[in-house]
Amino acid sequence: MKGGEFVRISSRTANLGTETAFEVLAEVNRLVREGNDIISFCIGQPDFDTPRHIKDAAIKAINEGKTGYTDSAGLYSVRQSVARFISKSRGVDCKPEHVVIANGAKAFIAFAILSTTDYGVGDEVIYPNPGYPIYESQAVANGAVPVPLPLTEKKGFSFELDELKKRITPRTRLLIINTPHNPTGGILSRQDLEGIAALAAKHNFWVYADEIYWQLSYDRKFESIASLPGMYERTIISDGASKAYAMTGWRMGFMANPVLAPHMARWMTNIEACPNHMAQYALQEALDGPQDETKKMIASFRERRDLIVKLLNDIKGVRCLTPGGAFYVFPNVTEALYNLGLESSEQLRKLLLKNGVAVLSDIHFGRKNPEETQQYLRLSYATSKENIVEGLRRMKKAIEGGL
Ligand SMILES: Cc1ncc(COP(=O)(O)O)c(C=O)c1O
Repeated sequence: MKGGEFVRISSRTANLGTETAFEVLAEVNRLVREGNDIISFCIGQPDFDTPRHIKDAAIKAINEGKTGYTDSAGLYSVRQSVARFISKSRGVDCKPEHVVIANGAKAFIAFAILSTTDYGVGDEVIYPNPGYPIYESQAVANGAVPVPLPLTEKKGFSFELDELKKRITPRTRLLIINTPHNPTGGILSRQDLEGIAALAAKHNFWVYADEIYWQLSYDRKFESIASLPGMYERTIISDGASKAYAMTGWRMGFMANPVLAPHMARWMTNIEACPNHMAQYALQEALDGPQDETKKMIASFRERRDLIVKLLNDIKGVRCLTPGGAFYVFPNVTEALYNLGLESSEQLRKLLLKNGVAVLSDIHFGRKNPEETQQYLRLSYATSKENIVEGLRRMKKAIEGGL
């Protein structure tokens, strides 16, 4: 008898979504292990090491015995640092009591959905599509109704406000926005943010502002929706150390909202107990310490962005906007597919992998909008310039060689 026939797995688990990008990553890692020469543009994490002074803060904490549980919301002194950081960067009056620290910002996606919707009653969560796949998977797993909001290339991968309006109903509880955006690198304009803020106030829903990439905003100063009048109270600011401080594996994320923080802290008590004790000292040092390394990383990402966009646009049939932030590009490959006689970006992804270049395709970022006629790939340029030049040379050869 098969296990599944007598020990039942819940349907919410059986149907749980995932980041399919991790499956591609596992395949790429296997190919590399088998000796294949592959340049990967798959992974969404800085290729830099965590700055020395940040590591030292954690080592000191361990040596001083900071190894027990802490408050579920995180150490008060570290929340004070986070509150100062949020107040300064968003222009709001954030207090330590408004802050919760977790093991990565990712956890707050689930906690926000859990804190603002009820299970199975039709509460709706609107989220960007394409987008970070966890928004949809957590909405579904927690019994909410997922409502994808299409982003369009012609708006620089922002959305039309009318498209948002069409999706708002009396059951809308939460709107998730992500700026700068994964997977497109798009940034919401001030006008977009003002439009969203007016709708949030009129229809009384929460906004989850996933701002994990905010420091990686290359061409203009980052603006948070939380800084608009009346928005701090209804915005769940989500941020963390992963991307701007090269700390993905440390798992340090934080949120701020004056109303929801105590509830999020109870979710932390229920699920995590508390954020990692010694890593909190590393987070504190990242936020309060010198910012030179982060500035250098940002300058380097910006140069790589310009390089990869130029090289992509040099490939026949590929068109790539210059993204304003994060470390992703989302080139349109529709014409290249046509030239190659391929049907989907996923087929192109596989072809490129055979030619030594690993990328992701648009299907890894949510179900495709049925009205979308264009096809895209996603490349992370958090890799060296040498890799970018060689990877794009291979890509050009694979795409144009087939012509
Ligand atoms: C849009 C977005 N939100 C959240 C996260 C999660 O970040 P963390 O490492 O803090 O959990 C990521 C990581 O890739 C991301 O791309």
